[in-house]
Amino acid sequence: MSHRRDFIKTAALGTLGLSTVYSCKQAANEPSGTPVPVSSLTGKVPLVISTWNFGLAANEVAWEVLMSGGSGLDAVEAGVRVPEGDPKERSVGYGGLPDREGNVTLDACIMDKNSDCGAVSFIQGIKHPISVARKVLEDTPHVMLSGKGALDFALSKGFVKENLLTPESEKDWKAWLEKSKYNPVINIENHDTISMLILDSSGDLWGACTTSGMAWKMHGRVGDSPIIGAGLFLDNEVGAAAATGLGEAIIRTAGAAMVVELMRHGRSPLEACKEVVDRIHKKHVGHPDMEYLQTGFIAVNKQGDYAGYSLRSGFNYAVCDNTEKGNRLEDAPFKMAWSS
Ligand code: GLY
Repeated sequence: MSHRRDFIKTAALGTLGLSTVYSCKQAANEPSGTPVPVSSLTGKVPLVISTWNFGLAANEVAWEVLMSGGSGLDAVEAGVRVPEGDPKERSVGYGGLPDREGNVTLDACIMDKNSDCGAVSFIQGIKHPISVARKVLEDTPHVMLSGKGALDFALSKGFVKENLLTPESEKDWKAWLEKSKYNPVINIENHDTISMLILDSSGDLWGACTTSGMAWKMHGRVGDSPIIGAGLFLDNEVGAAAATGLGEAIIRTAGAAMVVELMRHGRSPLEACKEVVDRIHKKHVGHPDMEYLQTGFIAVNKQGDYAGYSLRSGFNYAVCDNTEKGNRLEDAPFKMAWSS
């Protein structure tokens, strides 16, 4: 399998400030033996990184938006809309697993290079909460709208209310009701959140995060994903970080903001992610959540260095940058195996 990539030259390149950029198809689909040009840039930007394997398809769409001249905000929104709209993805948007009363409730946030942000929490019936979050950013004086207020706002902006509970998710919910044991599973099959970070060709940072939250949560529960500083944070002078995993643990430690602050103080993205995961672990030794606690972070700094790191094994993330490597999945290093 080749990891080399075609490169494209389009009219958009001038406006992007690039003379050579690569396509962002998954490496597995690329023909082998393609000559690899030398990038005119540092070989890093644009850089798109997102959590879990559904990040591959999301990255591809985000990359296309960037290559056609869209902004980083356009790109993160379009990217994470992919799993939001896919009923086969059971942890995000349409088809997401419901709370213990059978309601699909969604959380999302988006943040731009100017530190402007928008979020929705506990919104129901709207397939693409990330797009509502963007409207909160652009069209309101607020950062977050929640519940009925978020839904009313979405409807006023032309979003359509839909039933997001697919037959598959309803079936799983009814099966869960038989025992009703809350034991969140966060692993490669049951990931919980798509977070996406972009360092664009101008060196500016953008981010988005969206989820249906923990399956079988209490009605009204909100996790880290819509909370700026917990599920997502960026400072365009420093870097960006985003989280996946048990939202309660990430909120308790202001996870994404801490990763960025550690990078501000000189840590690499990997060191920063690891330090926050270590802190989360330390705070949860002996805690009831420890039994099922998984948490992971992705981070990128202004130099285009990136990393992911998780508490337990099995976290991966998708990266597409302006190199020959292709849109690829990378396994995150981790602190401990699941049996620990
Ligand atoms: N990380 C997603 C959640 O806890 O809801």
